[in-house]
Amino acid sequence: MELYLDTANVPEVERLAAIYPIAGVTTNPSIVAAGGHSVWDVLPRLQTVIGKEKRLFAQVLSRETAGMVNEARSLHEVVPGIIVKIPVTPAGLAAIGRLTALGIPTLGTAVYSAGQGLLAALAGAEYVAPYVNRVDAQGGDGIQMVRDLQRLLELHAPHSKVLAASFKTPRQALDCLLAGCAAITLPLDVLQQFLAAPAVDAAVAKFEQDWSQAFGQLTL
Ligand code: E4P
Repeated sequence: MELYLDTANVPEVERLAAIYPIAGVTTNPSIVAAGGHSVWDVLPRLQTVIGKEKRLFAQVLSRETAGMVNEARSLHEVVPGIIVKIPVTPAGLAAIGRLTALGIPTLGTAVYSAGQGLLAALAGAEYVAPYVNRVDAQGGDGIQMVRDLQRLLELHAPHSKVLAASFKTPRQALDCLLAGCAAITLPLDVLQQFLAAPAVDAAVAKFEQDWSQAFGQLTL
């Protein structure tokens, strides 16, 4: 499976990439805007800190097909190998088809239903990103949407992978992986929740205490 960090915070990516087994970094316009740096500045820096063998994702802003294609080409020139995120609107679907023909890899994003995600895959998207927590927040069932999308891609578009996104809890992410998704992207707070159980620290402290009581020092 592929685990991605959903952030454009370069120092944090550098720090966390040394700890967590990540496959790369995903961004979106809100994430880049929150960092306050130009996308043309931040993307090369992110690629440098994760290394060229890991994957980087960035999203277009234009709402029109031609504009999306132009922005995608520019992103691809600045960061060769980047995967371009395209919102799955009618214009976006056309852009995914055009970019696939040009050999520029895409991810269909802003996916709120399994059928919408299937269309992105059929148009040629390498990845499809369903928004789990945003669907839950609207009163829907984000995990069920992911289950349906995963099965649809297995049956009808096996070249495409689900990269599940928009998480508020580790449980949501695990449920997507149990549904068979190939990839997830996690915001930093959710990633760190995986290791944040107080019982873990307590267990390590007890090992130290027992060792030090027996041997009077804390070395093996
Ligand atoms: C990824 O493609 C999305 O941009 C991102 O995960 C959305 O997350 P959010 O719903 O927490 O903003």
